[in-house]
Amino acid sequence: MTDQHDDRDDQPDYRPDTTAIRAGRPDDQTALAPVIWASSTFVSNSVDEGRAMATSTDATRFYSRYGNPTVSAFESAIAELEGAESARAFASGMGAVTGVVLGLCSTGDHIVTQHQLYAGTQMLFQAVCPRFGIDVTFVDAADPDAWDAAVVPGRTTLLFAESPANPRLDLVDLDRLGSVRGPMTVVDSTFATPLAQRPLDHGVDLVVHSATKAIGGHNDATLGAVAGSRELLDWIWGFAVLQGANASPFDAAAGLRGIRTLGVRLDRQCATAARLAELLEADARVKDVRYPGLASHPQHELAVRQMRRFGGLLTFDLVGGLDAGARFVESTRLCQLATSLGGPETLVTHPASTTHVNLLPDELAAAGIGPGTVRISVGLEDPDDVIADVFAALDTLGD
Ligand SMILES: Cc1ncc(COP(=O)(O)O)c(C=O)c1O
Repeated sequence: MTDQHDDRDDQPDYRPDTTAIRAGRPDDQTALAPVIWASSTFVSNSVDEGRAMATSTDATRFYSRYGNPTVSAFESAIAELEGAESARAFASGMGAVTGVVLGLCSTGDHIVTQHQLYAGTQMLFQAVCPRFGIDVTFVDAADPDAWDAAVVPGRTTLLFAESPANPRLDLVDLDRLGSVRGPMTVVDSTFATPLAQRPLDHGVDLVVHSATKAIGGHNDATLGAVAGSRELLDWIWGFAVLQGANASPFDAAAGLRGIRTLGVRLDRQCATAARLAELLEADARVKDVRYPGLASHPQHELAVRQMRRFGGLLTFDLVGGLDAGARFVESTRLCQLATSLGGPETLVTHPASTTHVNLLPDELAAAGIGPGTVRISVGLEDPDDVIADVFAALDTLGD
């Protein structure tokens, strides 16, 4: 687990996209690209040195489940981009989410989270937490009063938010969340990335990422990260070394490579997503187009206040319902039917017939998933080709 480099304090105040090019490059190396330390273990020079490393949250040359130099470089980049004291990388986004929840909560605790969540996180709260005697209350992410109101004084230890949220891109008011006193606050900021929003700047305690998505950016790494204060990250580290969901150095190197190009990739994805959202909004076969950058998004003003970019994801409903949704995602040719986001390829999903097929009707409704809901993760193709493909698929649905 890694703290930001102190000796960077005398650097000029670079803008975030510049920081992304330089972050996580250890000063003791002349290699410009990440060096991959594949070793699972490291030789100690003495018993004292071994003992010191076995008990240090900073140990990067003891045993790679505890820490690893390549992983540490990725952690330092994430900490720097999020404005955090410290960060820990995990083997996946779910590794990071589980590391936070089970690392910080105990039997008898109470968690507040939202209805609109990535399905894996929802299962953790719905099915796993109760097994450990941890109660969970679900609130509407977009209702800024709901979070505070659900806190049970003396029992609620964690408020866990996801913003923008899967799949309808509902937003959580980060200033309001960060101002709740008592419980620790966490934001899964995967859909935004550190270059679109920084939850810690709003007083939130921890930020979580599935770096499998836009941070890795090429669909070739499974990786997660948590960033926040040194104190909280030390607690999480204590659980994480036993949890064993540590990041691979190969994936950490892929994460560092992804961070270097994140800014330009996001610019392209955001521009295409914004154009596509506007065009879809004007089409009668489509309703309720959700994109944080659209003036019609119910929380557009909040998006402008807390996001530097509006992201590469958009969601809409097909007027034709379930059949139209399933037919649409099978009819695109350039856009592929796959569940992930933030990569070079444009991906389409139809949650009601795929990822969320097991949800009950009221659970689907609470998550904002209708029979014709379609989510698009815009990639890096020529925007005209993406738009043409989406509208050709719409044309197959008839009037
Ligand atoms: C918002 C969000 N959080 C967490 C995860 C889990 O990440 P991973 O698949 O890397 O475990 C995902 C995966 O889709 C996600 O979309």
